[in-house]
Amino acid sequence: MARHAGLVGSLREREHEVAAVEELLERRGRMLLLEGRAGIGKTSLVEVACSRAAELGHEVLRARGSELESGFAFGVVRQLFERRLAGADPGEREALLAGPAAAARPLLAGELAAPLADDSSFAVLHGLYWLVVNLAARGPLLIAVDDVYWADEPSLRWLAYLARRLDGLAAGMLVALRPGDPALLGTPLLAVCAEAAAVLRPALLSEQAVGAVVRAAGGGEAGDELCAAVYAACGGNPLYLTELLRAANRSGRPMAALEPAELLAGGLDEIARQVITRVRGLGSDALSLAQALAVLGDGGELRHAAAIAEVTPAAAARLAGGLTRAEVLAAEVPTAEVLAAGVLAAEVLAAGVLAAEVPAHGPWRPRFVHPVIRDALEAMLDSGERDRAHRRAARLLHGDMAPPGQVAAHLVRVRPAGDGWVLARLREAARAAMDSGAPQAAAGLLDRALAEPPSPGQRAGVLREAARAEVTAGRERGFALLEEALRVAAGPRVRAEIALEVAEAYAALFRWVDAVDVIERALAELGPAEAELAARLEGELVVCGLHDARRATRVAPVLARLGSRHLGGRRPAAASEPVAVAQAMAMLLAGRPAGQIATWLEETLERSGPDAENWDTRAALLWVLVVAERFGAVEKALGPMLEQAHRCGSARGLVAAYSTLGLLKLRLGALPEADAAARVALCVLQEGDFAPGLGFAATVLSDVAVEAGQLDEAQALLDLLPRQGWPAGVGTVLIPAARGRLRLAQGRAAEALADFRACGELFGADVWGMPIRETGYVHARSGAALALLRLGWRQDAVRLADAELADVRVFGAPRALGIALRVAGLARGGPEGLALLHESAAVLDDSPALLERARSLAELGAALRRDGQRAAARDPLARALELAAGCAAGPLAARARDELRAAGARPRRPWRTGVDALTPSELRVARLACDGRSNREIAGELYVTLKAIEGHLARAYAKLGIEGRGQLADALAAEKTGVPTLQRTTRRRRDGGAITSPTEGD
Ligand SMILES: Nc1ncnc2c1ncn2[C@@H]1O[C@H](COP(=O)(O)OP(=O)(O)O)[C@@H](O)[C@H]1O
Ligand SMILES: [Mg+2]
Repeated sequence: MARHAGLVGSLREREHEVAAVEELLERRGRMLLLEGRAGIGKTSLVEVACSRAAELGHEVLRARGSELESGFAFGVVRQLFERRLAGADPGEREALLAGPAAAARPLLAGELAAPLADDSSFAVLHGLYWLVVNLAARGPLLIAVDDVYWADEPSLRWLAYLARRLDGLAAGMLVALRPGDPALLGTPLLAVCAEAAAVLRPALLSEQAVGAVVRAAGGGEAGDELCAAVYAACGGNPLYLTELLRAANRSGRPMAALEPAELLAGGLDEIARQVITRVRGLGSDALSLAQALAVLGDGGELRHAAAIAEVTPAAAARLAGGLTRAEVLAAEVPTAEVLAAGVLAAEVLAAGVLAAEVPAHGPWRPRFVHPVIRDALEAMLDSGERDRAHRRAARLLHGDMAPPGQVAAHLVRVRPAGDGWVLARLREAARAAMDSGAPQAAAGLLDRALAEPPSPGQRAGVLREAARAEVTAGRERGFALLEEALRVAAGPRVRAEIALEVAEAYAALFRWVDAVDVIERALAELGPAEAELAARLEGELVVCGLHDARRATRVAPVLARLGSRHLGGRRPAAASEPVAVAQAMAMLLAGRPAGQIATWLEETLERSGPDAENWDTRAALLWVLVVAERFGAVEKALGPMLEQAHRCGSARGLVAAYSTLGLLKLRLGALPEADAAARVALCVLQEGDFAPGLGFAATVLSDVAVEAGQLDEAQALLDLLPRQGWPAGVGTVLIPAARGRLRLAQGRAAEALADFRACGELFGADVWGMPIRETGYVHARSGAALALLRLGWRQDAVRLADAELADVRVFGAPRALGIALRVAGLARGGPEGLALLHESAAVLDDSPALLERARSLAELGAALRRDGQRAAARDPLARALELAAGCAAGPLAARARDELRAAGARPRRPWRTGVDALTPSELRVARLACDGRSNREIAGELYVTLKAIEGHLARAYAKLGIEGRGQLADALAAEKTGVPTLQRTTRRRRDGGAITSPTEGD
């Protein structure tokens, strides 16, 4: 299919580019960008790459952006994959869409197994990426996208997503575009360009090359003067050159006989003029048909063009033949279906466009020899003609069951006319875009729908749809639309419902203050009759308000009211999870006993069922439950929550579920699992548009890194977050707390103190208008006490540690109590301190929070050793070592080991080789591999690339001193005993042999 051969047989002066393409095909795993002005020869190089790839037996997937379809969500992605999937047999299709790739099913296979969430764009991007992984697993692959300048935005986002993950895949990418002003290029396109491993910029042809082409075309008779004139006219641009030669060719005289003056015309306008002259020469029907094809865009069907141009199909085939011979349309092979249409076959043969090879599928979709010709033909239409043609095109495509996005691509170009049919199609296309995870595209379509405009009765509905799309796309404009919907909606009840939607939208973007304000307004309007709705609004108000102290004064009275209701023994109604969560948060901040809070929340969970209605509320519930240390209940609830998030592909749900899982695992001390989970949340957050949520995932990851001794990594994670300017809230308080722990580990005690004090201030009574007793949430006071101890201010340390301990004793959860007791013991020192350390270790023996247990045992052992009780020190130190190693907490394990040595024992395990040296990420991957999971499965589960998995495993093997996967089980066997899981900690092991006999030959 050498479409662009034209008069020029082969490409001149493209050795460098062709070599780069060859290298791409050989090495793969990266993206080449091909950049140059119209006519420089990009498409020709894409052709070369594709045919070369095919020759090598690579699979080739190609697509081309077109201006017309730049608003058709995933249009380019569909071009790449739809045909490939349609042509696959059922078995292969299943294999290609297996695993994480399943999220691409609704888009590519039209299968909607379960309704997708509005914010499924991450899941779809990731699913499409896995489709490529699955394809590349079958053999090398080339993905070529021409004219990516015009690719639709969702496709561009995906191309960038894929390009970042190509390394290590048997897939190469070639992307061609015209250069543009970076200021005018959209972010998605810039993101694609930024991923290029190399940029090829084909040069203008030299005078010599032009001369050679002219001579080749003119039978070698062309003189120097003629060649120089052609060069001057075309400036070395291959398209201009080709068109000049075409013009000369059509004059019917031998090349040598032409006057240089005849050729002295250049530039796109001139080309367009000549082409149009050529088309006109074929008669008015030919012009109409060509214009209809231009309106349909490259790849439109001939029979649709015939209908738009109002000519019969047979006439259209004849005219298309003429246009092909006039080199307006590219000489493409009509398909079997065209030929099978009997009447047409003769016409097609007569048109002289039949070649040997006949593709099996599809109607005849002519293409122009170059997009500039399409542009010129379309530009000839006046606005009325263009409007009519696009309307007609939309109706034809709709009648043919074309994807709604393709129909709408025409309708966004027609003049608004209050047309109900147009409105319906636009909304349909927007829904399809939402369903395929392209809210940006949906927002654009609904914007156009609002301009149509809808009838007054429909307006509120369209506004809400538009707002949902905008909000999902992370755009501010959504709020303005929702507020407008709020204004046009009738009745306080509907308005309250919309207000709840607005508030949830604000909350989804972590804009708590706005959320509170909207709810307040709605509450003020709502009469006493709507008690249940009011309760929901109040619950949402409190949950939101507690995230930002600037609205704390509004929260306090509501909380007081809710609290008294609760004390009055009234259970919240089934639908009021937010109310229950708000109350639990209030209880937590008031320092009420963990048991009470937990029971309250567990009952709520029981009532609400496993599926979360609102991700934020459910996440808040589970966070409080983690803090209340009902780890088992949280683990149980997270299973279905993860499943639900995967099923509906909600980015928000993935973030909520994975960051909660990360927190749970962190608090249990399962650092590798915490790391893996929180990294998924971080990845989704970074791909999505809700940066403010970064704090939840980044602080968990920073804590993990600190515990694993990766202090630079912890710093890098915290650097993702702005240092200042965040309002006080239950989310933001996590940030200085995490930084304080890092500073402690770095030995920067004064800064640590400042950070923990900042936490205290964020939770100050003056900020919240009510006293807050922080118990097991961030441990700001014990953190500050540790910093003070380092600074030598023991008195202050004791005071703070005691204050926290007193509150935590009321709270009563073992992990929190263990921490408070430990710090109080360290602060006090002496026999009194020792007693507190004993108590801490004993309390933690009842908790599955193994890392804290290890820490308390280590401190207890160290204190005993300092007290001269060397023999007594060994048992807790040995247990600490074992537990810390099992958690992958390197520094703590090292400390326990040093202490053990100082206590006269010889620890069994050598330090810094083997399992202890693995980072949490390496250990997590190694454990999964050890469980028999393939690299692909692990990559799928952890949302990382195969290459990353291979890297982790290679480093793990090197540290473990083993050859490969087969030896992992033996190498990891030693650490198995310490791995924190809920099941094994419920079996309490205080004096099991392996754990308490840590020394050899002792
Ligand atoms: N290196 C080359 N040598 C000769 N002809 C070329 C060369 N590159 C492109 N052409 C011809 O120039 C015309 C425009 O090329 P094309 O690849 O469509 O450009 P672009 O995609 O950059 O707009 C085609 O007819 C093509 O055959
Ligand atoms: Mg091109």
